[in-house]
Amino acid sequence: MKLRLGVLGSGKGSNLRAIVECINDGRLNAEVRLVLSDVANAGILDLARDLNIPAMYVRPGRFRTKLDPEVEQDMVRLLNEADVELVVLAGFMRILKGALLSSFAHRIINIHPSLLPKYPGLEAWKQALKSGEKETGCTVHYVDNGIDTGPIIAQKKVSIEPDDTPERLHARIQKAEHELLPMVIADLQGSAGG
Ligand code: GRF
Repeated sequence: MKLRLGVLGSGKGSNLRAIVECINDGRLNAEVRLVLSDVANAGILDLARDLNIPAMYVRPGRFRTKLDPEVEQDMVRLLNEADVELVVLAGFMRILKGALLSSFAHRIINIHPSLLPKYPGLEAWKQALKSGEKETGCTVHYVDNGIDTGPIIAQKKVSIEPDDTPERLHARIQKAEHELLPMVIADLQGSAGG
């Protein structure tokens, strides 16, 4: 049985592309049923439409860093209508607080560009670079109502070179994300017995 995914994102969608590539070449037994974004012109929506995946902009409401409670309810409804089993946050830039967390308890994962618990929050690769770290990486974790705080599922390390720029380091971390995230989803699919 294919694992039915819902993907939430606010950015360009390179992680969505990586998931779909793994599905297409048989490394991941899943299907992306729905893509939702809180950003009307996000690249992830264009990408989803190019890939013939149902995609929708969800107006986030009156807050800057979270969603209106009614909006979370709406998203739950949309994800349930699409029969989604696992919600993947792939660059979704808002904190979940209410209906999504309770309706998809232990069924929401996030990809974050650092080795958590180090450097939660925004532009984590810049934080790691500034702190003089020799390595950083990316983390896939279950989502709770904090900022990048839920239980860690898997991590992939990335080295920091002496002459690294934030852009070069971020690109290297994203490459690692594109390997780690589909692999974690495949593992979850396997352990779900599908
Ligand atoms: C990724 O770097 C992820 O770690 C962060 O947001 C970025 C999303 O990238 N949370 P993309 O939209 O998948 O290209």
